[in-house]
Amino acid sequence: MFSIVRNTLLTTFFVAATLSGYAQAQTATTEFTPQVGQAGKDVIWVPTPKSLVEKMLKMADVKPTDVVFDLGSGDGITVITAAKQFGVRATGIEFNPDMVELSKRNAQREGVADKAQFIRGDIFATDFSKATVVTMYLLPYLNLKLRPTILNMKPGTRVVSHAFTMDDWAPDQTDSTEGRTAYLWIVPAKVEGNWKFENGTLELKQKFQDFDGVFRNGDGMSWRVTSTNLRGDQISFTVGTAIYTGRVSGPVMQGMMRPRPDAPATSWSATLVK
Ligand SMILES: C[S@@+](CC[C@H](N)C(=O)[O-])C[C@H]1O[C@@H](n2cnc3c(N)ncnc32)[C@H](O)[C@@H]1O
Repeated sequence: MFSIVRNTLLTTFFVAATLSGYAQAQTATTEFTPQVGQAGKDVIWVPTPKSLVEKMLKMADVKPTDVVFDLGSGDGITVITAAKQFGVRATGIEFNPDMVELSKRNAQREGVADKAQFIRGDIFATDFSKATVVTMYLLPYLNLKLRPTILNMKPGTRVVSHAFTMDDWAPDQTDSTEGRTAYLWIVPAKVEGNWKFENGTLELKQKFQDFDGVFRNGDGMSWRVTSTNLRGDQISFTVGTAIYTGRVSGPVMQGMMRPRPDAPATSWSATLVK
């Protein structure tokens, strides 16, 4: 009787062990197949069509010296296209580990595994501050949640979003293909405050890439600045007839100024005194 029970248990053990080994072998060899619309942490997976990916990267003027990050990288299409067609180092941040592994396989197959990397992580808990170009296809409220982080990135960083905007931060450029739209923003330098010039003070108010203000000289005269433009760290404005162009670098801006359009240019600089 005892040996019958023992033999039955052993048989059960060996059958179970064999089945479990078989299941593991099955798991190891079956490749994950993504489904359009599958759940994601904060947004489902829907891939961006290749033609729009290319357009987005062109809008961002991606160069081999850039560092591209795709937030919520799905199957890796943006990262792989950036690496393969634009010769740039690109990283995808993706929460779904199966999608990360799939992306790595895709990058390998396309021969860009050295340039295209994937991090398994949450876009809200992963550092992408070294990016010079950020791409994304998320949702309006997720773009808005990312906005403060993006606005603190290095001035001149380009951000391209498929389909969704950034609320009241107007895009610098909009383009579309095959009925899909992409938006480009260029992170503006922070220029709000009081800037001390050799010959006066410029008080600026800023809303994203828009700014205006008043220049006051030492004689109590003032001019509202006109023809203002801020693109990344490149700034230009006019005070009376004087045209200023320059570059903002933290609390210093400097460049060239022409008192009149036909006059020779001289250099200028200003420091932020708040
Ligand atoms: C609409 S798909 C876009 C995929 C890819 N960027 C593209 O344009 O083809 C959004 C992706 O974000 C991923 N995702 C959702 N929430 C995330 C989060 N908090 N952190 C990282 N990835 C996330 C989803 O798994 C999905 O793959």
